[in-house]
Amino acid sequence: MREALALVPQQVEWRNHLGSLLELGEDLAAAENCYRQVLAYQPNHPAARYNLGNVLNKRNLYPEALENLLKSFETFPNDPRVNLALGIALKAVGRLTEAICALRHAVALSPRYADAHNLLGFALQAVGDRRSAIACYEVALRMDPNHSDAANNLAVMLLAEGKRDQAVVHAQRAVQLRPEKAGYYCTLGVVCHALGERQKAIDAYRTALQLNPRLTEPRFFLAAYGEEEAPKRAPADYVRNLFDDYADIFDKTLVDRLGYRIPELLGTAVRRAVGNAATPLDVIDLGCGTGLCGKVLRGIARYLVGVDLSPKMINKARELNVYDELLIGDLLEPISISVRSYDLIVSADVFVYIGDLSRVFSACRRTLRSGGLLAFSTETDESADRFVLRSTGRYAHAPAYINQLAEEHELEFVVRESVVVRTEAGTPVAGELVVLRRQ
Ligand SMILES: C[S@@+](CC[C@H](N)C(=O)[O-])C[C@H]1O[C@@H](n2cnc3c(N)ncnc32)[C@H](O)[C@@H]1O
Repeated sequence: MREALALVPQQVEWRNHLGSLLELGEDLAAAENCYRQVLAYQPNHPAARYNLGNVLNKRNLYPEALENLLKSFETFPNDPRVNLALGIALKAVGRLTEAICALRHAVALSPRYADAHNLLGFALQAVGDRRSAIACYEVALRMDPNHSDAANNLAVMLLAEGKRDQAVVHAQRAVQLRPEKAGYYCTLGVVCHALGERQKAIDAYRTALQLNPRLTEPRFFLAAYGEEEAPKRAPADYVRNLFDDYADIFDKTLVDRLGYRIPELLGTAVRRAVGNAATPLDVIDLGCGTGLCGKVLRGIARYLVGVDLSPKMINKARELNVYDELLIGDLLEPISISVRSYDLIVSADVFVYIGDLSRVFSACRRTLRSGGLLAFSTETDESADRFVLRSTGRYAHAPAYINQLAEEHELEFVVRESVVVRTEAGTPVAGELVVLRRQ
């Protein structure tokens, strides 16, 4: 076909067809190129416009995919495939409500279209509507019992709803259907872990890693089981996904069910350290989550910044309206890169996701004004050599390691208390509250 096209380069139908063949053969860059050539000859070629948008979706080039698919939608508003591709692009650029609209339209146009039900479920999952997402995945599986993505997604959602026994059935189904997909083994591992099936979880994580050695989450989970060396900190993707999923129920679960009181306790410790004659402070809350510390500290803050990896936790914090500035990103960014300095740095129940705290302490020391305070909590393990990664996926730090860090960074202890950080399966978890002052 390439030779034929060399003779008649303007033959757009052949060129469009060649693009489709290349796409089928997974040569996405070459397919994209073909569709672009068609559009160069005939800018209004409707099929090539859709094909280009679709292949750009597959190449994760979503903003340009969206442009093309919106044009394609003008020509084919009632084509389920166009609506599906449009939904994918809209979701990827964060236009979730419009994505749900497009995907609902795709489903209405083609009620037996399993992909559309699955993707509608995925978009509903992204807005936190778990029940509707589950219903969509179930329909997708009725339409196509071999839809492995729907089975995997359903397992994730059932687990989030606490339905572990049902989740494992679908997680196993997904790996049976597509045993080459590493991500499905991660899901299976997480579900087995939740069921207390340690060996099955380990086997699943190992298979995931064999299939894709670059995956960080299964390596982290294996380390949490003591099967691999613990990394210096939890992978950012893992933390982000964990707390994005948790954001809606975080306050209720932690405060009401697990007796979480660290923000209040840290607030009291900070007030004690600051004393009565306090002038308002410039404060940064590292890993601010839903803003529980912000509420406690607003009264003593002149300027209050919060930073968190999880956009959904940040959204919750924004609703409180107590922070002057909220940043999405790693906590090291604002204290390493910015020229700003602070009177108080707070980090409540966050160092449990970072084992090696040396970079955090260096950055805090650099950013704190003279006499400024660093207030944080840890989970403790007296016998650890610096820190250990627990099977919960949280790090515990040795008190002696905190001493060493304080000494190295010339920070003096103002408050140090043993506390119960929360209860886990009815058992109290031991930790420390620490307030250090920059000398
Ligand atoms: C257990 S929550 C505590 C939230 C808040 N500090 C509180 O006490 O309610 C831990 C938070 O730390 C965030 N986090 C963990 N590691 C982080 C990092 N390296 N950078 C920014 N945020 C992080 C998580 O996204 C999550 O919102």
